[in-house]
Amino acid sequence: MADEYQYDVLIIGSGPGGYVAAIRAAQLGLKTACAESRDTLGGTCLNVGCIPSKAMLHASEYFDAAANGTMASMGIDVTPKLNLPKMHEQRLDAVEGLTKGVAFLFKKNKVDWKKGHATFQDEHTVKIGDETVTAKEVVIATGSSVTPLPGVEVDNSKHVVVDSTGALELPKVPKKMVVIGGGVIGLELGSVWRRLGAEVVCVEFLDQILPGMDTDVRKEANKIFKKQGIEFKLSTKVTGVSVKGKKATLTLEPAAGGNSETLEVDCVLVSIGRKPNTEGLGLENIGLDVNERGQIEVDGEFRTAVDGVRAIGDVVPGPMLAHKAEDEGIAVAEWIAGQTGIVNHDVIPSVVYTQPEIAGVGLSEEQAIEKMGGDKSAIKTSKFPMMANSRAKTNHEPDGFVKIIAEAESDRVLGVWAIASVAGTMIAEAALAMEFGATSEDIAYTCHAHPTHAEAIKEAAMGVQGKPIHI
Ligand code: FAD
Ligand code: NAI
Repeated sequence: MADEYQYDVLIIGSGPGGYVAAIRAAQLGLKTACAESRDTLGGTCLNVGCIPSKAMLHASEYFDAAANGTMASMGIDVTPKLNLPKMHEQRLDAVEGLTKGVAFLFKKNKVDWKKGHATFQDEHTVKIGDETVTAKEVVIATGSSVTPLPGVEVDNSKHVVVDSTGALELPKVPKKMVVIGGGVIGLELGSVWRRLGAEVVCVEFLDQILPGMDTDVRKEANKIFKKQGIEFKLSTKVTGVSVKGKKATLTLEPAAGGNSETLEVDCVLVSIGRKPNTEGLGLENIGLDVNERGQIEVDGEFRTAVDGVRAIGDVVPGPMLAHKAEDEGIAVAEWIAGQTGIVNHDVIPSVVYTQPEIAGVGLSEEQAIEKMGGDKSAIKTSKFPMMANSRAKTNHEPDGFVKIIAEAESDRVLGVWAIASVAGTMIAEAALAMEFGATSEDIAYTCHAHPTHAEAIKEAAMGVQGKPIHI
């Protein structure tokens, strides 16, 4: 370590990017500290994001299976009774267990947790609460927070107009709920409360939900959610929300303009995206600018425009996903330690944890065609329905499909999309195949265990070859 600094590395933020970077830096022999302003480690993901949302999704899925007849169709007659406080308790238990786990890993790896809000004084000096810490390298891993909707005030404590954090901890099931934004949060948390008995309306500005995903996937997902009872108002914007007591009245308008309508509900979830956390960080003290989207630009080694300052995770460009942040955390520590840290940003899976799950990796069909200069014949695609997969059919999970997109000339897989009960687990295989530059033929000739949902990936690959067996 350069003697003039207290630490080799200081990481600001202990989310999946920051805490993983800190542990890997310490494993590589660097003297490491991590600043975190929350009371617990783990960032958005462990405290108010991935983990608590999955706890509610998992529990509500069981409730729904009992309530909607799925269990009865398998010979299990139950009438479920909701114990919402208990459901919240198990959510909080999951969060506590995992955030304490990170604290344990910090101790084990000798990472110093500096509690408090961090502000740059200069590129090597950071004020954290009352303490001043110096480090040879500083990594910004401050994550993101909810994008506000102009004119709509979120107050999680009142449980009427809430963001994702408020929607995780509603003390009772709303009779009617509106989610503004048909993205990942709106669909996941909308599903939770729909399953527990709320009437859910999703208002989406664009003409289809889940922007960025493959068009076939977006359309099929929309159909499935409608079947599950979520009502969609697409190409619609919210122009105002007024709150009176425990009720909110929304004013809606067609996105292109036109007659407005009103909707009275008990709860409004604002989920129109997230923005990078850079305010209050003192970036002006080190002369570091953000781009037009508020993100910190970095190079392939996660270096910002300021020497000695790097950045990773939600605060830099790319998908705002925990596993992307984690992989960047490992890579940045390796670069700082003088090694080569690799993240293949072309192969980052994304999963929506609804039921069925919706997952994808690589390019959508539209992106693939665009990449081929608009030439549709330069790609091959194949879709295999889950209805024809023996395991999904046996498990009463008929919805969804696997779609593979490959380059026509080389047969190299460009993208894989899946809607299936365990699509999130299935997509790992596709990511591995793509990481190794697999062709669809490679997947088609890989033996897959029977009966598994993963066989649908093999069948879709056989379909690209023009030779599926089960359709
Ligand atoms: P964060 O996890 O946001 O952590 C940043 C940390 O830095 C925070 O704890 C913050 O308190 C701290 N911090 C910020 N500024 C300072 C400062 N100046 N000083 C000290 N500390 C500071 N992603 C998935 O991949 N899968 C999912 O299932 C998933 N579910 C989600 C569900 C919800 C409801 C939400 C909101 C997000 C979800 N995400 C999911 C996204 C995921 O949480 C983020 O992509 C991920 O947490 C980003 O990690 P990060 O390390 O960049 O930042
Ligand atoms: P999002 O970007 O996924 O979706 C926002 C949606 O709101 C889009 O469909 C957009 O068109 C729409 N929208 C924007 N402005 C609008 C307006 N004024 N009126 C109506 N609709 C509007 O953002 P979301 O759902 O808030 O999630 C934020 C991020 O958190 C995600 O992008 C994802 O990176 C991360 N996340 C990941 C999860 C996962 O991996 N399973 C789960 C939850 C969040």
